Amino acid sequence: MMGYKVAVVGATGNVGREMLTILDERKFPADEVVALASRRSVGVDVSYGDKTLKVKALEHYDFSDVDICLMSAGGSVSKEWSPKIAAQGAVVIDNSSAWRMDPDVPLIVPEVNADATAGFTRKNIIANPNCSTAQLVVALKPLHDAAKIKRVVVATYQSVSGAGKDAMDELFSQTKAVYTNDELVNKKFPKRIAFNVIPEIDVFMEDGYTKEEWKMMAETKKILDPKIKLSATCVRVPVFVGHSEAVNIEFENPITADEARNLLRRSPGLLVIDKQEPGGYVTPYEAAGEDATYVSRIREDATVENGLVLWCVSDNLRKGAALNAVQIAEILLNRKLLTAKKKAA
Ligand SMILES: NC(=O)c1ccc[n+]([C@@H]2O[C@H](COP(=O)([O-])OP(=O)(O)OC[C@H]3O[C@@H](n4cnc5c(N)ncnc54)[C@H](OP(=O)(O)O)[C@@H]3O)[C@@H](O)[C@H]2O)c1
Repeated sequence: MMGYKVAVVGATGNVGREMLTILDERKFPADEVVALASRRSVGVDVSYGDKTLKVKALEHYDFSDVDICLMSAGGSVSKEWSPKIAAQGAVVIDNSSAWRMDPDVPLIVPEVNADATAGFTRKNIIANPNCSTAQLVVALKPLHDAAKIKRVVVATYQSVSGAGKDAMDELFSQTKAVYTNDELVNKKFPKRIAFNVIPEIDVFMEDGYTKEEWKMMAETKKILDPKIKLSATCVRVPVFVGHSEAVNIEFENPITADEARNLLRRSPGLLVIDKQEPGGYVTPYEAAGEDATYVSRIREDATVENGLVLWCVSDNLRKGAALNAVQIAEILLNRKLLTAKKKAA
């Protein structure tokens, strides 16, 4: 059987490398995978399963025989390149924030709104949500279907890998500097991240929220339900991989903690680990490298009429980015929304 040609743009980055790993792990039916990045990386080796790919430059790359382009090279690169790549007939699945709120671009989390994928034909672009939104809506969807969510208040504990490979290096080198008594240098983060937490992710907006907090609100509305009210506080923590969230949910209709636990246990993409005893919950260290969104600490909030509180953890490079993008590509194939160009020729 003839497979597909897949391009990964941003292949040297945190998300791009994870995309190559996940394409291999899930045996995505690709005949050919090409790794692209900036000119700086031409000739660099990246792994795709047992194979090694030599990185090529995005500039001047001819996408005319590419079927699917997985983009994770940042917002400005995507703004410029996604329309050009899409015009050459490749479907772009983008990880940046560039296209998420465009009404002609579907914003997809497969467990939540897979049907909306079909709308990709308007621009040939599909957007992935922000990493914090992706895991949140996977956990909220079954609860919303059961008891109708009115309002969500969420505080995040986001790992440094969400800010790219340089940010991981910064946590590592600052931590080392603390032990060796060297000077701590902040480049990627506004304050020191080693042995600290920073309530500032992305730029400040006029209303005092940060852009990351705004994204969680706006993207949850677009993916799940525009009627849901959401207020977020997004915090960077000195964890390498895995985002955690403390989520407070107010419902229209009654729902008990036991009902929620049973419902979430049966829902796609979720694993409930909720023993209500010391250590009986999931931390980001345990979620790193895993595909599931973990839910723990489910309990009733007696301070509102129909309220629940829960703890939600996932690997931000996987469900928050690369895995979600590959799952979207799988929808395109499984629902026959795409035929391989070579097949068509
Ligand atoms: N990390 C997460 O959890 C996460 C989650 C959701 C979405 N995202 C989004 O995914 C994107 C990538 O994030 P990341 O964490 O992987 O960042 P990263 O580790 O800093 O990697 C950035 C990648 O983009 C490439 N790139 C930069 N400028 C380029 C250009 N002009 N042309 C071609 N390639 C270029 C880089 O190539 P070089 O090595 O050649 O510079 C590198 O491969 C961002 O838009 C981010 O917002 C990240």
